Formats: sequence, structure tokens, C-alpha cells
Amino acid sequence: RQSLIIDCDPGVDDAIGLLLAFASPELDLKAIMTVGGNVPVARTSRNARIIRQIAEREDVPVFAGAGVPLRREPAGAGEFHGAEGLGWLEVFEPDAPLADGHEADALTRIVMDEPEGSVALALMGPMTNLALAMKAEPRLAARMGPVVAMGGARSEGGNITPSAEFNIWADPDAAAEVFASGCEMIVMGLDATHQVRATEARIVALEASGDARAATAARLLRFSQAIERDIVGWDAAPLHDPCTVAWLLRPELFRLAPCRIAVETESELTRGHTAVEFRVDGETARHHWATWADGQGVFDLLAARLGGGE
Ligand code: BDR
Ligand code: CA
Repeated sequence: RQSLIIDCDPGVDDAIGLLLAFASPELDLKAIMTVGGNVPVARTSRNARIIRQIAEREDVPVFAGAGVPLRREPAGAGEFHGAEGLGWLEVFEPDAPLADGHEADALTRIVMDEPEGSVALALMGPMTNLALAMKAEPRLAARMGPVVAMGGARSEGGNITPSAEFNIWADPDAAAEVFASGCEMIVMGLDATHQVRATEARIVALEASGDARAATAARLLRFSQAIERDIVGWDAAPLHDPCTVAWLLRPELFRLAPCRIAVETESELTRGHTAVEFRVDGETARHHWATWADGQGVFDLLAARLGGGE
């Protein structure tokens, strides 16, 4: 089984990523970490616990992480996730509390205690937590398994500014440090996640399942569908964060290209842009940029897992 930590800011699509991971027996889910991003960290921490409760996975601890970016004012993407962060899902105070202790300490302890290279990290929000943990424990980058991150904009352009994607833009300084750290990174930028769209037929397939987890995912997607039509004018909303978990489960659903990624931190205009250099030695490259995703394959996986199937 693949050991995994998820770092997230739920967030409608984070919530679906969590549901997919919770429903996947080949993942040994060590912990969920939260970060301020789409909504403030108190809400992302509550939301992660709501999703955990719906999935009946209270065996997995949830740790609250950083509330603010390293050097910027906290932003927010409430317009795409609703004020509470979970769209049209009804929020409630979950039964099980947060785990004690700080997220960065827990992340470091888990990675350092397990065999080298064995703990993967799915990053679904701004990279603040990982940057802080790496600063506190410089051996972390070499010790981590693959970091599978949702973030970055290249040929598709950005979604928060013309040149940047939200997760990287929200804390560009943290992202710059993580990309420069030397850890192995699989990067699901908008080039790939925009190919994974919640079409009407795919939402209906989830609604038809009868399973509470599939129904939850469908309700979240109905909100994204409405917002995407309203704000962006797209008929089908992209499903970003679950691509990280889907890659760990079914890497053949994606195509990756070896590269070296650097993040713009100086300019306001291009803040958080990911500069992707493909002229690298494929054997030694530490970064891998997703250039293609099988959207139907990702949704089939989601429907099967959340519907209680294969
Ligand atoms: C990313 O930004 C957030 O709003 C989503 O949850 C996703 O992680 C997409 O750009
Ligand atoms: Ca997210």
C-alpha cells in the first residue's frame, strides 16, 4: 500500500479528492493536513473533518496547518467554493476533533519515521505547510516520497490572473521554495486539470449511484457547474485536486513530461507563474509536468470508488 499524507484547503474539489482517497484501499492514509487557501484555515479544517465524517474515516487524523502565506496577505477563492468552502453542501460541526499538535511537526514526524521515499504527499492547496516543514527539517526533501501537487499554469494560462493558477499564486514564496527543494514532484497544472471536466453526464452518473459519498461529490459538482457557468462561462467545471489522488491510483490516466519548474515571486503582474523548462535530462529531472489527462478515466474511477465499486 502507498503511504500518503494529504495537504488541502477544502474547497469543493479538495473535498472530492479527499472522498476519493478515503475510498481507496490501496492508500494508507497517514494524515490530512489543512491550510488556509480557498477559505480561512478554521473552515478548511472543519471542512476536512466534515468530509472525513461523511466517508466514515475518523481513523485518519486531521491536523490544522498554516493560516497565512509565508510573506503575503491571505487571499481566498470563496467565489468558486462558497463562503463556507463546500458550495451547496450543508456544513455542520463534526463529531471528531482535530488532532493535537502542529501540522508541520506531524508531517515531519510521519515522513522521518517511515522508510525513505515511502510517504507520498498530495498537495491540493497553497504550499505553505510543506515550505514551513522543510525549513524546520532540512532533511525532509530528501526523505519524502513523491509530492503530487495540484498547481501551476503554462499553456492554458492562469485562473486567478492571466499567468497564474490559484494555489501557486496564493503563496508563491512557499511554492518557489518547494520547487527548489530537490524533492520529486508530479505537477497537475491547469494544462491537465482543464481536461478533467464535470460534464452533465458525469455528474448524473454520480447522482445515480445511491451511495452517500457519490451523492456528496455530485452535490459539490452541481455548485461548481453553476459557478463555472456564471463566472467563467464554461459549461463543465474543471476538477482539479482529485487528479493528484487519481495519479497515485492510476498513473496511466495521465501523461507526464520531465522538466524543471521555477516560480515567479518578484513581479506583481506575473506573480505565481510557473516557468516550465522541458530541456532537461529526463533521467535526472525531479519535476514532471502533466501534459494530458484522461478526463473520462478520472470520472470513471471516481464513480467506481465513491459508488462502492472497484
Ligand atoms: C486550485 O485552486 C483552488 O481553488 C482549488 O481547490 C484548486 O486546488 C485550482 O486552481
Ligand atoms: Ca484546493
